[in-house]
Amino acid sequence: LKDHLIHNVHHEEHPHAHNKISVVGVGAVGMACAISILMKDLADELTLVDVVEDKLKGEMLDLQHGSLFLRTPKITSGKDYSVTAHSKLVIVTAGARQQEGESRLNLVQRNVNIFKFIIPNVVKYSPHCKLLIVSNPVDILTYVAWKISGFPKHRVIGSGCNLDSARFRHLMGERLGIHPLSCHGWIVGEHGDSSVPVWSGVNVAGVSLKALHPDMGTDADKEHWKEIHKQVVDRACME
Ligand SMILES: NC(=O)c1ccc[n+]([C@@H]2O[C@H](COP(=O)([O-])OP(=O)(O)OC[C@H]3O[C@@H](n4cnc5c(N)ncnc54)[C@H](O)[C@@H]3O)[C@@H](O)[C@H]2O)c1
Repeated sequence: LKDHLIHNVHHEEHPHAHNKISVVGVGAVGMACAISILMKDLADELTLVDVVEDKLKGEMLDLQHGSLFLRTPKITSGKDYSVTAHSKLVIVTAGARQQEGESRLNLVQRNVNIFKFIIPNVVKYSPHCKLLIVSNPVDILTYVAWKISGFPKHRVIGSGCNLDSARFRHLMGERLGIHPLSCHGWIVGEHGDSSVPVWSGVNVAGVSLKALHPDMGTDADKEHWKEIHKQVVDRACME
């Protein structure tokens, strides 16, 4: 039937996607990435990878069955990294979580071991891709991914304090009754406990809040703006 319906006038020799994105790890974060990519029409192929095969298949089928509402023509998955071949971007959200009583340092070692498997496989099938690292501790694992991949530094990106800054802007907007899009502020440094809010740069549509309220961010501040940064840090500890 297909041959009667469709007559090909051109055959590509090695057809593959031009804008393929792969997501490694289909947990809460991986699937949030996948759905955001699909809803924003960012890829012409989306591929998912995980070690838990039944969960991986279930997530892929759910996305495929939603295809009617999407514009991404191909959604694939697999445990074998060959499915990720020719990716433009590979997002790594895979990782072990902290066990009860486990030190952060021990978690780092477990996730480094996971990366020693993931990164060479990604590089093997997509040697020209960009790597976006999200797994925690994100700054350390981004460095590890850079070292293992052998990629130039501009092709290995960590999510860093992007989430911290977004959380900060949301909390700021909530306090002021202004949409976060008009609330500006940057959290810099390492994602998590030691991050630093740049109070001098906090502004609403260009109006500096520090100029209006010089105590902002200090212990003398009666409005306790520091509390917002504390909430950002506390939230990061729960990831
Ligand atoms: N950078 C940030 O701002 C930020 C924010 C939130 C969470 N995180 C981190 O992202 C990671 C994922 O969080 P989550 O809530 O989705 O966790 P999750 O436990 O829900 O999912 C992790 C997934 O990774 C998979 N996985 C484990 N080992 C793997 C391997 N070797 N290869 C492929 N897949 C593997 C698991 O099967 C699971 O599906 C965590 O490290 C978390 O701390 C980072």
